[in-house]
Amino acid sequence: MSADPHFLFIVSSTREAGHTGNTEWLARQAAAALPAGTRQTWLHLSQFTLPAFVDQRHTTGQYAAPEGGMKALLDATMAATDIVFVSPVYWYSIPAPLKTYIDHWSAWMRVPGLPFKEEMGKKSLRLVTTSGDRDKAQPMIDSVRLCAQFLAMRWGGALWGKGGAPKAVEADAAAVTAAATFLIAA
Ligand SMILES: Cc1cc2nc3c(=O)[nH]c(=O)nc-3n(C[C@H](O)[C@H](O)[C@H](O)COP(=O)(O)O)c2cc1C
Repeated sequence: MSADPHFLFIVSSTREAGHTGNTEWLARQAAAALPAGTRQTWLHLSQFTLPAFVDQRHTTGQYAAPEGGMKALLDATMAATDIVFVSPVYWYSIPAPLKTYIDHWSAWMRVPGLPFKEEMGKKSLRLVTTSGDRDKAQPMIDSVRLCAQFLAMRWGGALWGKGGAPKAVEADAAAVTAAATFLIAA
């Protein structure tokens, strides 16, 4: 029997505290359409201290179990059935905090006794993103899709909206319409 859905939204905009970005606004439209009672966890990477990732694959070959904020991120990741990256396009790519978080996936795959890769293969990954124009988002969408593929995660696709200044995406009617069904399982 499959687990009850538990959506983890990982917000990686670097807008200043208290200023909700376009991407989070769009993701919250999508989340509002989930069936009542669907479990949701929202994490803002800007509220975590993310240690630099160190590649130990060819030295110690393994990693200690994370502590502090990274443990909280790992626990939230493991607990989710559906992970949603809520990520603006920065330089055709993902913002640095999200990149650091997923670099740590490489460590979590090598924590003795932690079935990270196996468990990730049971989850879905989706992306909600905004940028100045749709074409500029494609390399980042492809990158996230390939990350899902690497971990055998189900790829739930990308929801894109036209962002820019705060609240800009609220005028993107196509994105708002698409948000209403984006998270609903086919
Ligand atoms: C550092 C930085 C890099 C950006 N790079 C791009 C880009 O490569 N292409 C693009 O179309 N927009 C780019 N943008 C614009 C953002 O994608 C856009 O303003 C987005 O809506 C911001 O999301 P937010 O409101 O959720 O923070 C960039 C913005 C910043 C701050």
